[in-house]
Amino acid sequence: MTITTHQTTPIEGQKPGTSGLRKKTRTFMEPHYLENFVQCIFDGIGGVAGKTLVLGGDGRYFNDRAAQVILRMAAAQGAARMIVGQGGLLSTPAASNLIRKRGTDGGIILSASHNPGGPEEDFGIKFNTPNGGPAPEEVTNRIFEATRTIERYIILEAHDVDLETLGEHDLGGMTVEVVDPVTDYAALMAELFDFDAISGLFAGGFTMRFDAMHAITGPYARRIIEETLGAPAGTVMNATPSPDFGGGHPDPNPVWAKELMDIMMGKDAPDFGAASDGDGDRNMILGRGAYVTPSDSLAVLAAQAHLAPGYSAGLAGVARSMPTSAAVDRVAAKKGIACYETPTGWKYFGSLLDAGRATLCGEESAGTGSDHVREKDGLWAVLLWLNILAVKQIPVARMLAEHWAEYGRNYYSRHDYEAVDAGRANEMLDRLRAMLPDLPGKSFGPLTVSAADEFAYTDPVDGSYAAGQGLRILFEGGSRIVMRLSGTGTVGATLRVYLERYEPDPDKQAEDAQAALAEVIAAAEAIAHIAEYTGRDAPDVKT
Ligand code: G1P
Ligand code: ZN
Repeated sequence: MTITTHQTTPIEGQKPGTSGLRKKTRTFMEPHYLENFVQCIFDGIGGVAGKTLVLGGDGRYFNDRAAQVILRMAAAQGAARMIVGQGGLLSTPAASNLIRKRGTDGGIILSASHNPGGPEEDFGIKFNTPNGGPAPEEVTNRIFEATRTIERYIILEAHDVDLETLGEHDLGGMTVEVVDPVTDYAALMAELFDFDAISGLFAGGFTMRFDAMHAITGPYARRIIEETLGAPAGTVMNATPSPDFGGGHPDPNPVWAKELMDIMMGKDAPDFGAASDGDGDRNMILGRGAYVTPSDSLAVLAAQAHLAPGYSAGLAGVARSMPTSAAVDRVAAKKGIACYETPTGWKYFGSLLDAGRATLCGEESAGTGSDHVREKDGLWAVLLWLNILAVKQIPVARMLAEHWAEYGRNYYSRHDYEAVDAGRANEMLDRLRAMLPDLPGKSFGPLTVSAADEFAYTDPVDGSYAAGQGLRILFEGGSRIVMRLSGTGTVGATLRVYLERYEPDPDKQAEDAQAALAEVIAAAEAIAHIAEYTGRDAPDVKT
């Protein structure tokens, strides 16, 4: 086996401050592109000599070949051990768990999350640090610097490692340890939740559908929900991961998980429905005839988590991203625990979780999690819901109604304008930014602006500062508009408009969210002229 040093040149594509690289699969497959970025990760973390890393991905097209390249590069550069999920597979939360449990120097996750997979779709790679979470800015900046200065990458010329056979293999002096991707994660779930109570629920005839969307959570959900908790075979649908996710878009929302939505809204709907995304970190929660918004799910979980053994001591605090609805804030206030408002992106929760300031955290974009790992965790959210339902013995719709009666309802929706002209989108936000100081006191229909600003965040633990995190307009009574551009879109710009209204009166909480938000939606258009700047008369996606 020979070690080869390839001369190379800087690569384009990584955005500074993002914890990884997400691109068209074809780009990753161009000669040396993947190798270059992997080398930049290795250089950015100070080399891999003597280190142990976790490696796995969501099984999308190119996952298998990319894993082999990464192993050869790690071996050539002196890594001691790579812990790899069998077949090169690991869900993102399971990778986070392995990094932590095995005390490794971090890990590499191959995924483009909820984006479609396939030769013409998306691929991605990111580095997580030893705490199990996405690399913080200081590390991603070093990786980014490396992409601008890289001159060489180093790789071993060798045959593929057998990633199907569990156990240890040697690759040029480095140990490749192939592990079952589910076992450690399932053990962690068994520690957190009352599996006997959930088994009892299923034994009593409780019915469920979990849509794995042809993605990574299939094997995890089958093992835990069907084999361990005793739900009947077939409870997990679309359970076999496929390289192109069955040609679908593995994003667990009412638009992309329509098959499950139709089942849950149909006349023979099961008691409970859930879905997870490509790499297993997002979740969608449904009841019979009921859709639970991610913001409401976070609030319900915060209110009831103490019913699960892993959280029986109560929560240290909760955290939500700024655009997520304030529903969880009301729970925190009532429980007298801290509530943190962070910029969009899971990495901002890491320091709060590490410092023990927050136990649960979540984002409106279907991400919910806790301090058990340092990523959001789709299946964990589903199991926490199941544990709560097993204790409460009431339908999901009634859980929601009781929650809203106690805390009030935060009507909420996000409107996305996808692949719009980036220049025009920025002009729109520049105009709005300039208007912010003059907005307070102005009225739009029945709504009067109480405050308007551009969100900036100082991390209360490490003091790091993040500016420019979204424009927000607050109205008297708790309604709110937030606008920001997506940091994860791959074509043009994606404008996200987040709309919220608070309704404390239980007798007025039954309305459809879009109808209930009509005045807030009209105010957003009146203030920002969205139609004019985007050239669209309606959003592409409403969640
Ligand atoms: C989106 C979500 C955000 C999430 C991120 C990664 O980012 O809005 O909450 O953390 O994906 O899953 P955005 O495209 O809005 O920048
Ligand atoms: Zn994901």
